[in-house]
Amino acid sequence: MDAHKSRIAKAQARMTELGFDLTALSLGSNMLFLSGFTDEPGERLLLLLVPREGSPIFIAPQLYADQIRQASSVADVRAWKDGDDPEALLKRTTAEFGLRSARVLVDDSMWASFLLMLKRALPQADFEAASQVMGPLRREKTPDEIGHMAQAGAISDEAFGQILNLTVSGMSELELARALEGAMKEQGAEKIAFETLVASGPNSAFPHHRAGQRRIEPGDVVILDFGCRVHGYCSDITRTIVCEEPSEEVQAVYGAVKRAQEKGVQAVKPGIAAQEVDRVAREEIAKAGYSEQFIHRTGHGIGLDVHEAPYIAEGNQLRLEAGMTFSVEPGIYLPDRFGIRIEDIVVVTETGARGLNKCTHALQVVE
Ligand code: CO
Ligand code: CO
Repeated sequence: MDAHKSRIAKAQARMTELGFDLTALSLGSNMLFLSGFTDEPGERLLLLLVPREGSPIFIAPQLYADQIRQASSVADVRAWKDGDDPEALLKRTTAEFGLRSARVLVDDSMWASFLLMLKRALPQADFEAASQVMGPLRREKTPDEIGHMAQAGAISDEAFGQILNLTVSGMSELELARALEGAMKEQGAEKIAFETLVASGPNSAFPHHRAGQRRIEPGDVVILDFGCRVHGYCSDITRTIVCEEPSEEVQAVYGAVKRAQEKGVQAVKPGIAAQEVDRVAREEIAKAGYSEQFIHRTGHGIGLDVHEAPYIAEGNQLRLEAGMTFSVEPGIYLPDRFGIRIEDIVVVTETGARGLNKCTHALQVVE
């Protein structure tokens, strides 16, 4: 509770600094971070309104009101009933803040229908993305937050270990995905962090192939990219395995990705620009002759969202600081043939990167 109150105070201080009058958050990680309340986003209007000064207010469907009062640090919950017009309540509530030509921040992922209601309620306001205020507050994690992420990482590691004991030849990608998810839930995951990705054979050349009906065959390369949540905080790990015999080419490409991943992690330390980690990993892949086949950034921040700041990409000059958490996940993708990616989450410490995934990088050959 106190943690949430102090986060709200920090958000208000930053709003003052940047000259914003109101922040409107919808269901999602920013709302969870500031208030302690979350649920799946839905069509009913549910907003947390944080004025620059004074107490925040929830506008929520009545069926949520008691739940929000219990779960959150915000006492003022204005409820509307199914059948009521939530827009009228929104107008009355924003009028209390006395905002005329206000500068308003809205959640980056707010549904357009809610933003349109806000625009009608505050016709003279200018709207900008709340990440300006929320991003920096969430970027450096506290020891508690890192503890949750380490636990989520350990659960993913354990799930990977269990998969190695299966006979994957003949399994479909979906069956393997369900096995990973089942293992994570058995180990105490609250939920999976994102749709589990299992890409086999030529599908592994698509970095974001999900999991489908394709059955795994001997000789296939299989990319497994998966994660779970503990106290809302995510893990995200990728390992690439081979069914039966890996070809020499697969071994060579695997070696290049492994070196790039490990050198990227070794480059991590406070004070360097985020893009520097991307450059180090990319250089290693270029050395092996695959620069054109590394078709995405090296990594992304992670926390309450699977993807959040800081992005580990060319052009990001943000200086790394202790407490930042992000992925290092280079890959090489050879269209119609196979792809290889290795991903670990790291936390920046005063002395360099601390890995939140511990399972081996050595190429695992399964049956
Ligand atoms: Co991933
Ligand atoms: Co990732």
